[in-house]
Amino acid sequence: MNMTEGKSSAQAIRTVGVVGCGLMGSGIAQVCAQSGYRTIVREVDDATVSKGLGRIESFLSQGVARGKQSEEEKARTLSNLSGTTDLEDLATCDLVIEAIVENMDAKRELLATLDRAVGDDALFASNTSSLCITEMAAATTRPERFVGLHFFSPVPVMKMVEVIRGLVTSDETFERGYAFVKTLGKDPVAAPDRPGFIVNRLLIPYLLDAVRAHESGLGTVEDIDKSMTLGCGHPMGPFTLLDFVGLDTTYYIANIMWDELRNPAYAAPPLLRRMVLAGRLGRKSGRGFYEYS
Ligand code: CAA
Repeated sequence: MNMTEGKSSAQAIRTVGVVGCGLMGSGIAQVCAQSGYRTIVREVDDATVSKGLGRIESFLSQGVARGKQSEEEKARTLSNLSGTTDLEDLATCDLVIEAIVENMDAKRELLATLDRAVGDDALFASNTSSLCITEMAAATTRPERFVGLHFFSPVPVMKMVEVIRGLVTSDETFERGYAFVKTLGKDPVAAPDRPGFIVNRLLIPYLLDAVRAHESGLGTVEDIDKSMTLGCGHPMGPFTLLDFVGLDTTYYIANIMWDELRNPAYAAPPLLRRMVLAGRLGRKSGRGFYEYS
């Protein structure tokens, strides 16, 4: 544990709030708790809180089974975690990371409420994969204390986090966000507040292009995936990755990038749109480009 690295002239980060305990939020809460932060997750109802905490417990148990950590470390992580449905319970947090649905209106409404509930000195962060950090920050009375912290899935495994500076993010906030990421045992990368930041700016056109290539008869889903895994050493081919990230998520990010940049590289191909409309969203729905039992 090296929490104190996150300390600057401002108060040290000791308690972290994570709003949203889905796939990303639970992963973020897990790595915070694992790194010694008192971590409070907030979800909309008790069942969703339990589901999120259950997901963390199950990941930790798998880690114990794989010899990645001991039972004691797992217990210590769980003892740092608590769940709530009440935003007021985040009042004492030094940092609140929002990881709710990728919808600007929903995020702005949440942030305005959090702004009233959480102490004035606290930092706010968003795990958005593509929405504008500056626009979210403007929903609060502390836009200079707002930073993007974009984690990658699966959060406990992926080693990098994009730290995004909004137009009015202060140097101190950016530096504290950057240092905080290091205390989680992850490597931070400074990214600008541009659609898709760095990773999705490169990843989304690649994924869309794979769909276009397949649509135009270049190869089967399996052969295109095999080309990129066995030919290029990628851990997953583009279609496996699309199913992993979610076709709806990819489609959504592509549309945000297209809306702002109007570059055809970000225009979603017809097949992707139709698969989303048909509910073939990838692993989460049991079927995307592949079937999952
Ligand atoms: N606890 C601790 N470690 C665990 C674990 C657990 N419960 N489960 C897995 N791991 C570790 C494993 O031990 C292993 O680490 P080592 O190599 O050090 O032993 C590593 O994670 C990989 O695990 P597996 O061997 O079981 O699985 P794999 O080799 O099939 O890899 C994967 C799975 C990590 C998901 C890999 O396929 C991968 O990296 N895929 C690409 C994922 C990716 O691109 N993510 C980014 C998506 S984009 C995004 O998230 C953001 C966005 O905005 C769209």
